[in-house]
Amino acid sequence: MKKYVLLLFYLLGGWGFAWADTGDMADKGKELYLSYGCALCHGWEGKGDGINSQKFQPPPTNFHNLQAYLHGSDADSLRRSIQNGIKEDNSIMPAFEDMSADEVDEIIVYLKSLQKRD
Ligand code: HEC
Repeated sequence: MKKYVLLLFYLLGGWGFAWADTGDMADKGKELYLSYGCALCHGWEGKGDGINSQKFQPPPTNFHNLQAYLHGSDADSLRRSIQNGIKEDNSIMPAFEDMSADEVDEIIVYLKSLQKRD
């Protein structure tokens, strides 16, 4: 019996860590989002309403609205959009080629967290 209780604690503890982990990554992602200047176009909260947003057609994506994504809202598509930029349709979305793989991952976790919020 004792063994099972311990096992349960172990499993719950593991979940706790998993949670904390994505939370941390999203926080780091938000810092990177701000320091790379994504907010200038995509807005402080990622709602597509940055100070530069009025000038562009297509407008900067509102990351909260799944329908607003023109190039896919899953992790792989986000990675592609960030690393390659978007070169079609006169899009202004720049390529962030020098960002490290870890940084891209952290920003993706942040963007995914926005997709779950209004
Ligand atoms: C100079 C303005 C500008 C900056 C800076 C900028 N973006 Fe964008 N971004 C855009 C515009 C405009 C679009 C919409 C273009 C389109 O979909 O064709 C876009 C599209 C995207 C997309 C694709 C969304 C879709 O429609 O599928 C992602 C992901 C993205 N941006 C992430 C970022 C991240 C992360 C950063 C910072 C590292 C960033 N952007 C910085 C203007 C910008």
